[in-house]
Amino acid sequence: MNSPRTQVVILAAGLGTRMRSKRAKVLHRAGGMTLIEHVIAAARQVADAESIVTVTGHQADHVEKVLAHSGVRFVRQTEQKGTGHALECARLAVTIPVTSPAATSPENADGLVMVLYGDTPLLSAATLLRLRDAQARSDAATTLITTTLADPSGYGRVILSADGDVRAIVEDKVCTADQRAIRIINSGIYCFRAGPLWEHLAEIEPDNSAHEYYLTDMAAILSSHGHRVESLHIDDPAELLGINTRIELADADRILRGRKADELMLSGVTIERPETVSIDTQVRAGGDTIIEPFVRLLGSTIIGEDCHICAGSILENTVLGDRVVVKPYSMIADSRVETGAQIGPFARLRMNAEIGEDARIGNFVEVKKSRVGKSAKAQHLAYLGDAHIGDRVNIGAGTITCNYDGEKKHETSIGKGAFIGSNSTLVAPIEIGKDSYVGAGSVVTDAVPDGALAIGRGRQVNKEGWTAKRKKK
Ligand code: UD1
Ligand code: CA
Repeated sequence: MNSPRTQVVILAAGLGTRMRSKRAKVLHRAGGMTLIEHVIAAARQVADAESIVTVTGHQADHVEKVLAHSGVRFVRQTEQKGTGHALECARLAVTIPVTSPAATSPENADGLVMVLYGDTPLLSAATLLRLRDAQARSDAATTLITTTLADPSGYGRVILSADGDVRAIVEDKVCTADQRAIRIINSGIYCFRAGPLWEHLAEIEPDNSAHEYYLTDMAAILSSHGHRVESLHIDDPAELLGINTRIELADADRILRGRKADELMLSGVTIERPETVSIDTQVRAGGDTIIEPFVRLLGSTIIGEDCHICAGSILENTVLGDRVVVKPYSMIADSRVETGAQIGPFARLRMNAEIGEDARIGNFVEVKKSRVGKSAKAQHLAYLGDAHIGDRVNIGAGTITCNYDGEKKHETSIGKGAFIGSNSTLVAPIEIGKDSYVGAGSVVTDAVPDGALAIGRGRQVNKEGWTAKRKKK
């Protein structure tokens, strides 16, 4: 089917009073993305970014900044007078094409306008495509998605006529007792024919107890003009969940993360106790990787094949090659670990730590903004910051790069194959040559030449018979 031009309006100006938050509702996160970003991701499957208009109001600057990367357009609703008024605010942006702002194009009057709410993050692109196709095939003025809920409270109820068309939508707040018993609800997802929508939208009146312009009144208005209003009933209500409270936010988060875990498992990733792991929507993981309980994989993390991420580890914006093992309770952020390396347990990598192939970073080792070469080892209790560590270097237990002099950060460079004895203090800026040795317990302040042994510590003195002498006193 050749679909008519579809434009999308996403309403996201509301206050979200029931969230009891300082932050605009649509900026709360579920599944690692803001609610509105999920809606935009689904909308992008039916329209290009330029054909998506987002209505902002409450914390508009902040919302627009968060969404700037998406390329959608914005209009402002400065006073939140209801969903009908919010759509009215988008009228010009939708009816006047971006390319020739001179006139309302006839193409736009014939097109479709899909209206979505910014607080329904579980919506799938497949459902939006079904809605668009249903409306494109129909002679109705609008088609709206409905579902049947065991507990419909809070949602608008859908009043159907004998022939199954929609007569009206009645908001929860203004339902009569009989209407309240109706369990078919309005999901807030509509696909309008542009012509009748713009012709009649201004007929909405704020004649309800909240004095709001309810977009839902369009159902009754359009049918009073002899237009048909159809519904597309969806059997699985999960994807229509509207987020009004933090309890619903937690529900959405759980559902999104469950979906993500299912997607990874179906693609060949083993997840033990998937209900305990948190994996953000954007994360990718390769086949035969194993993820243990209570792992968190966040942001833009990408994991290779045959990796093993052990219990309690947290990875954020991190790239792992293949066959990487992350032992329990490690934290890795904004870093990169190459194939075959082993990290942890209890390791911390951050701010562009780069761990080379087959390297080992062990317990209580922190690596910040440093490159650790291929097959290098730092197995116990060390701090490596602003360092370039060559291939096959061995960093002894307790080694510290002193990278900060109180004002500036300085770099440490350790050549290939060097051996740094335990409890060494490397005072940066410092260069330690390749194949050199640093004696245990040294404080190293001067460059160490290639192949040299550096010892920088107090010499040991043994006093023979000292204990016996002391006892005599
Ligand atoms: C709305 C519907 C209800 C439906 C439910 C589905 C109306 C009047 N009611 O109720 O029938 O069952 O969604 O989830 O539409 N917004 C604005 N400007 C405003 C008011 C709201 O942009 O002036 C935005 C909000 O940011 C939000 C969306 O519209 O993203 C929906 O508003 P909300 O107050 O959550 O409506 P509900 O009471 O949930
Ligand atoms: Ca809502």
